[in-house]
Amino acid sequence: MTILVTGGAGFIGANFVLDWFQHHDEPVVNLDKLTYAGNLQNLASLEGDARHIFVRGDINDRPLVERLLSAHEVRAIVHFAAESHVDRSIHGPEEFITTNVNGTFHLLEAARAYWSDLPEKRRAAFRFLHVSTDEVYGSLELGEAPFRETTCFAPNSPYAASKAASDHLVRAWHHTYGLPVLITHCSNNYGPYQFPEKFIPLMILNARAGKPLPIYGDGRNIRDWLYVSDHCAALRRVLEAGRPGETYNIGGCNEKTNLEVVQAICALLDRLAPEGAPHSRLITFVEDRPGHDRRYAIDAGRIQRELGWTPQESFATGLEKTVRWYLAHDDWVQSVTSGAYRDWIERHYGASFPPQSGPPGVA
Ligand code: NAD
Ligand code: DAU
Repeated sequence: MTILVTGGAGFIGANFVLDWFQHHDEPVVNLDKLTYAGNLQNLASLEGDARHIFVRGDINDRPLVERLLSAHEVRAIVHFAAESHVDRSIHGPEEFITTNVNGTFHLLEAARAYWSDLPEKRRAAFRFLHVSTDEVYGSLELGEAPFRETTCFAPNSPYAASKAASDHLVRAWHHTYGLPVLITHCSNNYGPYQFPEKFIPLMILNARAGKPLPIYGDGRNIRDWLYVSDHCAALRRVLEAGRPGETYNIGGCNEKTNLEVVQAICALLDRLAPEGAPHSRLITFVEDRPGHDRRYAIDAGRIQRELGWTPQESFATGLEKTVRWYLAHDDWVQSVTSGAYRDWIERHYGASFPPQSGPPGVA
């Protein structure tokens, strides 16, 4: 048997594929369009490994997906492929609808056609694992209870809305057609291979290069951080033992303000790469993200109780591993921070960056 992973050349997908082969010999068909966020270098260690079958393609290409499912006798789909960056969704939401909504629809339809024709035993064992986000629940105030699986959806960004829409489709394909789906909502991931448009790698690389560290607004927005290998372990567990039709929240119990995260990164760099110290002098407050969610927090009680999953990394150990990884992988960094990346940074942060240096209201 085989599993089909979509988006397996991106950050979490690549970590999942690498992690999978640490625990299984079961082959993986990895379907990825290789957008700006997909990078085969993430999977370089699998070169020549017959268990990994990479296919460059789009999840919107239903005939291709159907062919892959049949040809490889796929027993489960793990669906990561998505446009994943909130800021990009604000600048240009269309791609988010095309991939996250339409793409998930086509994937579901291809899966349904294939699954319907399977013999009884294989039909019962088939799984469609949809990897989603805590952002579909919206924003919390300080003191409000963390998101539970029963929390109502209230997505605030085009990205979050497109993920919420895809979650609804997945749920409906279970309810209406009986497709054995599993849905996960995870908090902010960090770790190796994360594209440096996202907060933690952006801060590590900018600090390393002596560039400003752009903090949106007052820096007090809160995220719950989870080291990526803990997310991969949770997904393996959900695939193995999750109940079809069920939703599982996954989180690290690591609520931090953005300012706390940057200060922790600066302190690590001061110790591990002291030539630019103190790196915190680079912290620069910039205009806030439109509609910026104030706080995310996850109640991961269900997956802990029902599936026995708990994170292995603390924020301190995970962050140190991450900083060390970026310091040791200059070649990877060089390859992903080429022309297209520089264009994005200039478009988003502006040529005149940095526009202000103290938090709003502070001279
Ligand atoms: P990423 O942007 O790093 O990777 C996305 C991958 O999907 C890339 O390899 C890209 O080439 C591929 N892709 C994009 N459009 C495609 C298409 N139409 N067909 C096939 N492949 C396509 O994203 P990530 O951070 O690894 O996130 C993976 C998934 O996990 C997403 O669904 C995201 O919503 C979800 N998620 C992410 C986080 C996080 O903190 N990064 C947290 C919770 C959930
Ligand atoms: O919560 C899960 C989500 O986490 C995933 O679904 C998304 O795919 C992933 O991108 C992430 O979304 P965020 O918007 O929380 O992540 P990002 O890394 O873009 O930003 C994290 C926080 O840091 C957020 O409060 C915005 C802030 N930020 C971000 C950037 C890029 C800054 O202050 N400055 C920046 O330059």
